[in-house]
Amino acid sequence: MKHFITLSDWSTKELWNLIDLAVHLKFEWKSGGNRPVMHGKVLAMVFEKPSLRTRVSFEVAMKQLGGDAMRLGPDEIGLGKRESVSDIARVLSAYTQGIMARVFNHDHVVGLAKWSDVPVINGLSDAHHPCQAMGDMLTIYEHFGRLERLKLAYVGDGNNVAASLALAAAHFGMHFTIATPEGYGLSEDALEDAAPIAERNGGKIEVYNDPHKAVEGADIVYTDTWVSMGQEKETEQRLKIFDPYQVNDTLLSRANKYSIVMHCLPAHRGQEITDEVADGSHSVIFPQAENRLHMQKAILVELMG
Ligand code: CP
Ligand code: NVA
Repeated sequence: MKHFITLSDWSTKELWNLIDLAVHLKFEWKSGGNRPVMHGKVLAMVFEKPSLRTRVSFEVAMKQLGGDAMRLGPDEIGLGKRESVSDIARVLSAYTQGIMARVFNHDHVVGLAKWSDVPVINGLSDAHHPCQAMGDMLTIYEHFGRLERLKLAYVGDGNNVAASLALAAAHFGMHFTIATPEGYGLSEDALEDAAPIAERNGGKIEVYNDPHKAVEGADIVYTDTWVSMGQEKETEQRLKIFDPYQVNDTLLSRANKYSIVMHCLPAHRGQEITDEVADGSHSVIFPQAENRLHMQKAILVELMG
């Protein structure tokens, strides 16, 4: 059974197939509609955390492909609280043809995959956000016509989004730089997983504390919130520590003249990104959000089609 839990579980070739499939499904949708390849299929969407893009894009993706999806919020399922992860996985497998889960503890999505008889998709965990990173690769590919050798600079917190971007960049032979405050870098696990993948594919990973160094000559400047879901108690401290990591016009002036600015959203304007940059001529944040839909379709068709 194939699952989509982290980008280290998939080969580079399989991930290129996802990009090609997403390009095809996007074209098909814009040319009048997708074929109903998910007819009679239902996706269970388990949420321990809030969501706009992930929830709506998966649900709309299933519907546009002729299938259906249902949201199961934290008060309904109680993953690992009301019922064990293994029991939930086996029960949902009997009713549905796929499970997408957004969880705190990464082990929960791994546990769902272990016990499920249907494909499990990681819709974000504390450690990874693979659907986001693949949607982002689609956006970068559409913009530049290639992925290899592009310089992607990530500025801010070395969180779940950063970890999946590092893995995606490694697969596609990109030059990935990351600037974080001391103590907020990528996890050792993410770095260890990404390094050999980058080496195999001609990619490079560089870790900095100075955002200006990371952004120098970048083709893509990427940021995300300084306070991820579940870290709300650390807000005051984090806002102080991350203040020098704001993506603003001064920082962006270090990047390539034709660079693009990306953010997975939700954005905290005035914190990790200014209004001027988020709404400026380099920003692709809304096409980036749209591409979540087209990439979710590719992931669904690949796993459940
Ligand atoms: N980028 C993203 O995953 O957005 P949501 O949290 O709204 O799903
Ligand atoms: N790093 C953020 C991403 C939100 C899509 C979080 O985990 O809250």
